[in-house]
Amino acid sequence: MPPTMNWAQCYTRPILMIPGPTELPFPVIQAMNAPPSVQYDPSFDEKVLEPTTLALRQVFQTPGEVFLLPGSGRTALEAGAMSVIEPGDPVIVVVAGVFGVLMREIMTRVGAQVTEFRVEWGRPLDLAKLRAEAERLRPKAIHLVHNETSTGTTYPAEAVGRIARGVGALYFLDTVSAIAGIDVRTHDWGVDLNMTGSQKCLGAPLGMAVVSVSDRAWEAMERRRGKAPSFACDLLQWRKTWIPVSRGGKLPDGAPRAQPVSIPTHLTAAMRVAVGLILAEGLEPRFARHAVAANALRAGLDAMRLELFPDPSIASNTVSCLKTPDGIAAGAVVATMRDRYGILIGTGLDRFRGTTLRIGTMSMTASPFYVLPTLSALELALRELGYKTESGAGVAAAQTIFANAS
Ligand SMILES: Cc1ncc(COP(=O)(O)O)c(C=O)c1O
Repeated sequence: MPPTMNWAQCYTRPILMIPGPTELPFPVIQAMNAPPSVQYDPSFDEKVLEPTTLALRQVFQTPGEVFLLPGSGRTALEAGAMSVIEPGDPVIVVVAGVFGVLMREIMTRVGAQVTEFRVEWGRPLDLAKLRAEAERLRPKAIHLVHNETSTGTTYPAEAVGRIARGVGALYFLDTVSAIAGIDVRTHDWGVDLNMTGSQKCLGAPLGMAVVSVSDRAWEAMERRRGKAPSFACDLLQWRKTWIPVSRGGKLPDGAPRAQPVSIPTHLTAAMRVAVGLILAEGLEPRFARHAVAANALRAGLDAMRLELFPDPSIASNTVSCLKTPDGIAAGAVVATMRDRYGILIGTGLDRFRGTTLRIGTMSMTASPFYVLPTLSALELALRELGYKTESGAGVAAAQTIFANAS
């Protein structure tokens, strides 16, 4: 019997092709290799935090304030919900997957009177129906997950923004797996709270929540009957102690600024470099790169006769969700790819955990350097598990897309 090869022996860790956290550019990793600095020292505010949040405005495409908080995407969602929503406020949450369910839960916990607008997972959103529901309920806020990571779908954030504006509702947008990978026009689309995390298409380490706030959202916070139920997540605190009067805040210009919650200095330094790389690349070229990489991945899957889970018309460019071939468990594919070929992809979530797989094309991994080896490893793993495809067909199809895009 020939020995079993363990190719993963050659790796110290698996390559992260999961839909976040994703691979980090080396300069971002290097930015964290520094001794500690003091988060309340004015030099940190002036030289690191402030330039980073100002640069993030360009990524968010908004002239409004952008805040960094310690935490993750969920912290951003909670900061938005807790800062703005009060008990009894009517809210519509579009639920098209696991992360819509998450916001339904967060909104319920802050006491909102939640109406769930249910979308069959992986299917398009019926905008006319949502508009009718919004007109009927006249909610204080409408929440949408722009890119539903659990099903690999992108929903029409601009059109939902128009619906929200049409009924005078605040517009909450979860861009955790969208921002810096697909176009998110915070200001033009009327997004009042744009809430995301650091570890996906921004190409920064896990550990920071990022939130942008519109003027309308500030007004809603100012009109609150009572204080937000959280101190650390209360965005009004930032306005009070960190934003100078000349920028619409409450802090006298020139007065020492105070962050309402201690900011992780290493993560901010890494974020600063990550945002610099995004702006140096340019938003349009970056979105185009994600589109080509996702297209190549999808072409590769198709050539391997693997079917996407969602309706292809709303397939995401940052996370692809595919059905596993009949009789092959998603967990077995993930384990084989990881253990034998050193590439980590994700299973599906919730009731599709066993029957779907998810592959991220985010930040660095939206490139041939990552997509081609992933398709190759997927083919090899599936073959080991008993699924036959034409050798190399997936890689060849993806190569064609990459070659034509160059
Ligand atoms: C669309 C979406 N929303 C929210 C979250 C939660 O973010 P986090 O895991 O950073 O808390 C995720 C995480 O994958 C997500 O993809």
